[in-house]
Amino acid sequence: MTKNDVLNAIRGRRSVLRFEPKPVSEDEVEAILEAGRWAPSFANSQPWTFVVVRDEETKAKLGALVERLAFARRGQVALTGKGVGDAPVLIAVVVDPVKDPGHWIEAGAVATQNMALMAHSLGLASYWAGLRGRAEAEVKRILGIPRGMRVVALLPIGRPAYTPREVERVPLSEIVRRDRFGG
Ligand SMILES: Cc1cc2nc3c(=O)[nH]c(=O)nc-3n(C[C@H](O)[C@H](O)[C@H](O)COP(=O)(O)O)c2cc1C
Repeated sequence: MTKNDVLNAIRGRRSVLRFEPKPVSEDEVEAILEAGRWAPSFANSQPWTFVVVRDEETKAKLGALVERLAFARRGQVALTGKGVGDAPVLIAVVVDPVKDPGHWIEAGAVATQNMALMAHSLGLASYWAGLRGRAEAEVKRILGIPRGMRVVALLPIGRPAYTPREVERVPLSEIVRRDRFGG
């Protein structure tokens, strides 16, 4: 398989739920936000706002919410002691469907992935928590997000406190079809 920096970053990024108590600098946060800013969007509509949370009380509330949602990798970490709220920084990806009624989900998703990859390239880890229903409403209330806007993801970011277990992906032979989907 081709060796390539982008591909290595994409493959190497893992969801991590516990973070070292080491700070994430403003320069690092800015690089991560810059990666989000340069995400593509429909007609370059850029419908996103990134809410950077460093306030301890707010992080604790959002962290508790991510803990509730984090079913996927939970078995890997002791859920006692430190939690997601101890991540040095959390970024909420907010989009305005008025700016991009047809593709706001994709816009938020691609900005989130850009930021997760940038964080990874800086030696940081993140955990993409997708938000729907009551969880989204709760985040909107905690962060004072206006009614019509949507929160696509919460991204806690910090230095990983453990080495995440390897995960696999379905092989290309099962997900790629050539020229036509069906016979
Ligand atoms: C749109 C989206 C929503 C997600 N929401 C959750 C979630 O609510 N809970 C959770 O445990 N993981 C969530 N994840 C993280 C996935 O579980 C994780 O990316 C997947 O298990 C693959 O692991 P990896 O990120 O380490 O490659 C979400 C990921 C994406 C892209």
